[in-house]
Order: sequence, then structure tokens, then C-alpha cells
Amino acid sequence: MSLKRISLIQLGLGGVGRALVQQVIENRERHARQLGVRLNYVALSDSDGLILKKSGFSDQELAIYTDSKTSKGRLREMRNGQVWNGDIQLLNQIKSKNVIVIDVSASDQPIPVLQEARRRDWGIVLANKLPLAGSLKLFQELTESRLTRFETTVAAALPVISTLQLYLLDTGDNIKSIRGCVSGTLNIVCQRLEKSEKFSEIIRDAKAHGHTEPDPREDVGGRDAARKALILARLLGYPLEFKDVVAESLYPKEWDALSIDEFMQKLPELDSRYAKLSQETQSQNLRLRYVIEVADGRCKASLQRLAAHDDLIRASLADSVLAFESERYSPPLIVRGRGSGPRLTASGVLSDILLLAQMM
Ligand SMILES: NC(=O)c1ccc[n+]([C@@H]2O[C@H](COP(=O)([O-])OP(=O)(O)OC[C@H]3O[C@@H](n4cnc5c(N)ncnc54)[C@H](OP(=O)(O)O)[C@@H]3O)[C@@H](O)[C@H]2O)c1
Repeated sequence: MSLKRISLIQLGLGGVGRALVQQVIENRERHARQLGVRLNYVALSDSDGLILKKSGFSDQELAIYTDSKTSKGRLREMRNGQVWNGDIQLLNQIKSKNVIVIDVSASDQPIPVLQEARRRDWGIVLANKLPLAGSLKLFQELTESRLTRFETTVAAALPVISTLQLYLLDTGDNIKSIRGCVSGTLNIVCQRLEKSEKFSEIIRDAKAHGHTEPDPREDVGGRDAARKALILARLLGYPLEFKDVVAESLYPKEWDALSIDEFMQKLPELDSRYAKLSQETQSQNLRLRYVIEVADGRCKASLQRLAAHDDLIRASLADSVLAFESERYSPPLIVRGRGSGPRLTASGVLSDILLLAQMM
């Protein structure tokens, strides 16, 4: 049987990007045997470099690039590497028939590449939320075709987008509300506050273990959760911009002007506030959670006190949970499980790639 070759252009070779390359290599045989597909990397980029090989990289070459990135190498300094600033002209060199662009960067710089991929009717897979949480116009442009998939933009590989899009909306269900705990960092913060740990130490620890965005304010300020809520809201057809999402920040607004280090140093100033809040909440037999809510054309993200039996409570430390209340599902349909981590996220990206490969 001849294999269907799918050319992959991957933007980003960080934790998720490297895990993805590894999973593509490890599963080659299965992809060939069960799906008749060969995933062929033709380009890899990091923030300022790109390596391109029209015929595709060997697994050995891929391992060299990922190993080099693990030890903080720069693609532009590697053999055949070139400086790259997001210039879409480079795409003209790719002449393959079936192409998928994978955005596992954490930047909005690749947006023109994604737009060009749409114009060429190539597939797009995003783990990067930024393009979809940008302007509504861009969201519509990128997602108008089902050749764009973005499962891992909300709660990593948990089937959140596919549940909403394919199993509920496409089949005519009417969504009344979506509630969820989707910030890995803020789940950890809430649950460790309950164990009387200090707010500042929880954030410091989460940052040190890579559980936060590089700038932890993205999580602690509610912006990361707000972006996820916005993506879900837009799938429901709410015509919202990011500024329309009401997101509660867990630190004072003025701290946005600080450097990351200065912000981290200020955190102990918040310890007593959150210790008090946590004690009060527990004394009322309630639980503290950072919750996104999408309903009635609106979208918000806030710290809430929930009853112990609430659908969102049974999540363990690393879990994300989403509750879809609809005409068919009342009580709600719950999607719950581990919702972060590079390897899990990579598996969700790979699954999106394989779905697209089968549509091509
Ligand atoms: N980690 C998770 O659990 C998780 C879960 C769900 C979604 N995501 C999303 O997945 C994406 C990747 O996450 P990660 O943990 O792998 O992040 P990461 O380790 O910080 O890696 C980001 C990668 O993107 C590259 N990059 C930055 N700007 C770029 C640009 N303009 N063009 C091409 N590449 C660029 C970086 O290059 P340099 O190496 O040069 O810095 C780096 O290789 C993020 O958008 C994140 O929000 C992550």
C-alpha cells in the first residue's frame, strides 16, 4: 500500500514541540499500518531560526534538532539553519500537496504564516491560543475551515473542543452554559491554599516546575483562562473580543508594569489576603476555585467559592474540568482529566494532525 505523505511545518520547538517530534517518530509504524499515513517534517522553526528541507528530515536529523533545542541551541546556528523572522516567502519553497502547519509557539508572530496557510488551503493545528484569542476577525478567518484544528488550546489533550464542536454543536444541541476550571496554575493555587500554603510560595514553586507561562501573570492575572473562555465562547458564536471578557486578576493591576522578577518579589504582600480568604471559605464549607463561565452571550473568569458538591470540585490537583450544560445534557456533560503538560499536549496536537491527514 502506498502511504499518503503529509508534509509538516512546525513553528516552535519548546517542550510541546519537542515532545511532538518524538511522538511522530515513535508512532510512524502505527500510522503507516493503521492509517496509511507518513508524517514528513519539511520545516522546523524556533523564535529566530528555521531549517527547511523540501524532501523531509530523517528521524536522525529530527533527533539532532530536538536534542540541540533541549540544550538551548538555536536553529539558525545549526547546519542548514537560517535566520527567520516569520517571513512567509519561505513557504513558497514547499511544493508538496498535503501540508499541515503546526503552531506550537507561544507567540503571535506566526500569525501571517497561519493566514497564508489558510489561503493555500493547507491544514493548521494550533496549541498556541494567541491567534485564536486575538481579534474576532482573525479567529473567524482561521477557523472558517475545518482544516484548522485547535483541540489543545483549551485544557491540553482533553477532548474539549471536539466535544463542543463535533459532538454537541454539529449535531444540533443547544448549549446553555459552559463552566470550567481550565487554568492548571490556578487549580494548583486554589488547592494548595486549602492546605494553608503561602500564595507567594505556591506561585514560585509552580513557576520553578514549569507549571506557569514564562510570565506567571498570564495565569495569575486570569488572562490565560480568559483566552480559553473566549475561544469556547467564539465557538458558540458569541461575537466577543478579548476586552469583553471580564477576568479577575489575583494581583493588583499596577503590578503589570513590573518586570517578572520584581513581580515575583512583591508576591509575599498578597500572602495574608489569600490566607484569610482561604480560611473564610473553608469555614463556610466551601471551596475556592478559579472558574470560567460562558453563557448568555457573555464570558467571564473569576475566583469563586463553590459548594463541595459542585461539578467542578472533584478535580484533582493537576486536573482541568469543563461542564457543558445543554438541551440534551442537564445535568451537564463533564469532561475532566489532566489538562496540562508538554507530552499530553503533544499527543493532542498529534491527534489533530492525524484527523486532518485523513481529511486530505
Ligand atoms: N505546556 C503545556 O502544558 C501546554 C498546554 C496547552 C497548550 N500549550 C501551548 O503550546 C505552546 C507551546 O508550549 P511550550 O510549553 O512548548 O512552550 P515553550 O517551551 O516556551 O516553547 C515555545 C517555543 O516556541 C518558539 N517560538 C517563540 N516565538 C516563535 C516564533 N515567532 N516562531 C516560531 N517559534 C517561536 C520558542 O522558540 P525559542 O526556543 O527560540 O525560544 C520555543 O521553541 C504555547 O502556546 C502554550 O500555551 C502548552
